[in-house]
Amino acid sequence: MRFLTGLQPSGKLHIGNYFGAIQAAIELQNKGEAFYFIANYHAMTTMPGAEALRANTYEMAVDLLACGLDPQKAVFFAQSAVPEVNELAWILSTVCPMGLLERCHSYKDKIAKGFSPNHALFAYPALMAADILLYDSDAVPVGKDQKQHLEVTRDLAGKINDAFGADLLRMPEALINETTAIVPGLDGQKMSKSYGNTLPVFGEEKALRKLINKKVVTDATPLEEPKPTENSIILALYKLFATPAQYEEMVAAHHRGGVGYGQFKKDLFEAYWEFFRPAREKREWIMANPGYVDEVLADGATKAREAAAKVLSRVRKAVGLI
Ligand code: ADP
Ligand code: TRP
Repeated sequence: MRFLTGLQPSGKLHIGNYFGAIQAAIELQNKGEAFYFIANYHAMTTMPGAEALRANTYEMAVDLLACGLDPQKAVFFAQSAVPEVNELAWILSTVCPMGLLERCHSYKDKIAKGFSPNHALFAYPALMAADILLYDSDAVPVGKDQKQHLEVTRDLAGKINDAFGADLLRMPEALINETTAIVPGLDGQKMSKSYGNTLPVFGEEKALRKLINKKVVTDATPLEEPKPTENSIILALYKLFATPAQYEEMVAAHHRGGVGYGQFKKDLFEAYWEFFRPAREKREWIMANPGYVDEVLADGATKAREAAAKVLSRVRKAVGLI
């Protein structure tokens, strides 16, 4: 079973990304053959600029390795290290009806957010389909927001197979964890970079302690009174990091009263800080070993290119390019 997923290098990783996508994807490296890449071609669709793109790609690689992506188990590479993906995207484009892309939410959402309606943004799902199909992927772990792109991928694979030979492209399955809850941001809306309400996975202790203390929204119930547990942002976040017993204890303390929000936030910070301690230590090790990330990515790129070459030569032959 081959798992493949791409992660866009879009700035600082937050705990919504971690619990919503990364944790489960990394787990899969123990369950089959994993191909994970940093989607830097995709990140270009919103024109971050050369320096930001380079820096974010590197930082994403560091963060994923720190979070437990194991290059001994998974093939880990930058999307741009296998430029052949663009050729498959082109081939897929030739069977891709305009209407299919026009219906995609992500394009409309990006335009609504003010991004320029360039061709790459529009053709984004065809490149994503190529990412998946180029490696004969069986299953693609993604967040719910990517479900439609997986449907496009299957649609395009079907059209190619109908036109050029059954089984030419392997039909992938989406692996969407429907049970993963949306992680709330510090203000209670969905946590997202665009809302500026994120809790980063990595950062400086003092600043993060202050962030939780100042920015997690609470009501104004006085210290001695019982506190509402419904819609509590502190509790929703604490649940991600605490043991079930710790979580139950905090719920009970809400019911009892006599404990202030300041204390709950302190407990939240401690649980969060402990939870990411191993990842933080790994990250420090990586930062102290310059060259490690480049080596890992170079090794991943070699393996990814080998796998890609097999599929691409099969496709080129079938469509009449050689
Ligand atoms: P952002 O909303 O901060 O721009 P992205 O869209 O880059 O985040 O998210 C990358 C992945 O992280 C998504 O595919 C989604 O599965 C996951 N994700 C992001 N925010 C959350 C959240 N608040 N709760 C759960 N999962 C999330
Ligand atoms: N579009 C995905 C996202 O924004 C990233 C991505 C690019 C991807 N290519 C992929 C995910 C292939 C899975 C498979 O999150």
